[in-house]
Amino acid sequence: MLEQNEILQLNKKGWNRVAEQFFEGSFDVLKYGSYAPSEEQLNLLGEVQNRVILEIGCGSGHTLEYLANRGARELWGVDLSGKQIETARDVVSKLNAAVNLIESPMEEIAGLPMNYFDIALSVYALGWTVNLPKTLHNIYGSLKPGGIFVFSWEHPIHSVVEYHDEQLRFRRSYVTEGAEQHDSWRGTPIVMHNRKMSTFINTLIAAGFRIDQVIEDSNVADDDSVSPAKWYSGTKARMIPSTLIIQCHKPC
Ligand SMILES: C[S@@+](CC[C@H](N)C(=O)[O-])C[C@H]1O[C@@H](n2cnc3c(N)ncnc32)[C@H](O)[C@@H]1O
Repeated sequence: MLEQNEILQLNKKGWNRVAEQFFEGSFDVLKYGSYAPSEEQLNLLGEVQNRVILEIGCGSGHTLEYLANRGARELWGVDLSGKQIETARDVVSKLNAAVNLIESPMEEIAGLPMNYFDIALSVYALGWTVNLPKTLHNIYGSLKPGGIFVFSWEHPIHSVVEYHDEQLRFRRSYVTEGAEQHDSWRGTPIVMHNRKMSTFINTLIAAGFRIDQVIEDSNVADDDSVSPAKWYSGTKARMIPSTLIIQCHKPC
């Protein structure tokens, strides 16, 4: 298996290739993931007005735009992919807000201020880390005492189950963790990490966070227009959560 630095190099290349497939448009409702409840439903970030906010894995910058439009005072976005940061730079240049963008792996963020942020947020990016303890240590250190961290990621059960012959079945073990190499994820080689739900929770605790809420709910309308064979579908979401969302904080 590749070393962590080699995985980051491979994933950076991969993300630069697929970035365009993930470019968001502007939005008014912050979605935490497919079939997941939105920030408008959950209110996990609390008051955004005048807050200093860090986004880990900011992608095309549209979540930063959403936060700026809600009056955030200062925004920082970190992403591994130069292509994503380039797009985010264009998106935030149209905003009336102070935004710092850093092209960096979340595992090692040069220049990230300590004890600085009111809120840290990560939407479907944290699970890409090759080193979860180090990444959570960085986020914890960057928050002010009392600061909030909210992240969403594909639910670890959702990742192991696929729809086949009108049934959900396990495609791999839930309990076996570690790096998994994909030769052609969206057409490019990439390495993902398989982690259990308890690993996310216990690593947050080990980093010093206090957990406030763990959310596994799905919004599933009676809409079966999406084929159950798709990776995200209403059929699947009615049986297992699509997204894991955790809200926690750095104690005062
Ligand atoms: C699924 S996208 C989510 C982007 C954005 N948060 C959104 O909701 O549209 C995941 C992002 O994580 C970034 N990423 C992957 N591995 C990373 C790492 N080790 N450090 C920082 N960013 C990473 C990718 O470049 C990509 O922009």
